[in-house]
Amino acid sequence: MALLGKMKKNFRIKKDNPYGLGRFLTCSHWRLTMSQQTTNSELSFSPASERNKMPILEVLKAELADIGEVWEIGSGTGQHAIFFSKELPHVIWQPCDLKETHRDIQARIDDAQLSNLKPPIELDVNVFPWPMESAGAVFSANTLHIISEAAVQAFFKGIQHSLKKSGKICVYGPFKYGGSFTSDSNERFDEQLKKRDPASGIRDFEWVNQLAQNVNCDLINDHEMPANNRLLVWKKK
Ligand SMILES: C[S@@+](CC[C@H](N)C(=O)[O-])C[C@H]1O[C@@H](n2cnc3c(N)ncnc32)[C@H](O)[C@@H]1O
Repeated sequence: MALLGKMKKNFRIKKDNPYGLGRFLTCSHWRLTMSQQTTNSELSFSPASERNKMPILEVLKAELADIGEVWEIGSGTGQHAIFFSKELPHVIWQPCDLKETHRDIQARIDDAQLSNLKPPIELDVNVFPWPMESAGAVFSANTLHIISEAAVQAFFKGIQHSLKKSGKICVYGPFKYGGSFTSDSNERFDEQLKKRDPASGIRDFEWVNQLAQNVNCDLINDHEMPANNRLLVWKKK
């Protein structure tokens, strides 16, 4: 039986959440610990990724219709990489994240056996040059409120040198507009984020949009998503 099938069949969820966010699972990793006799496999698991993958897919189907290769920044558990590469077979999907996440991403890739899904590449947004050239699109979910402001700036600087002309940036997550949170739950989420790491926090849409404009990318869509999230799409001139 496939690894993930086994996991679903018999597991206990151990709360081991590096983001310490309780109800705010949008950016948490939960560790699934296999409790059964047959394997000791452990894979980090994000319930939020399971919840948001369908609505994100609906947007990506349209936004990535003519895109050949997508680089995902901050792939996390790899759940999105598996799901989107399976559902978007015309796209070559390149997961990227810090080295410590690769074991779980690779385990999921091995299990999925998808020819358009590449092994993870180490990419720290702060380290230049990025190992990426001429990407057709960059996708990132729930990362900009986790990394510091300086790292968000690095994110766009890296993209400047790595994205093709007419390439797209698709960023999913919560944002503030006009300095205000879009919901009480996002405001509480922001407080929790900052308690864990004062450098993190929900970003201002206007600030992020300016960073994109500074690297020659125009906002072409701001999709409203469930649970007070957005999916922002920029296109490089
Ligand atoms: C909240 S998780 C989101 C994971 C996944 N995209 C999702 O939606 O479930 C944030 C991700 O950002 C990654 N990350 C943190 N700092 C980073 C950095 N400096 N460069 C690249 N990725 C980073 C973490 O390793 C983690 O996978």
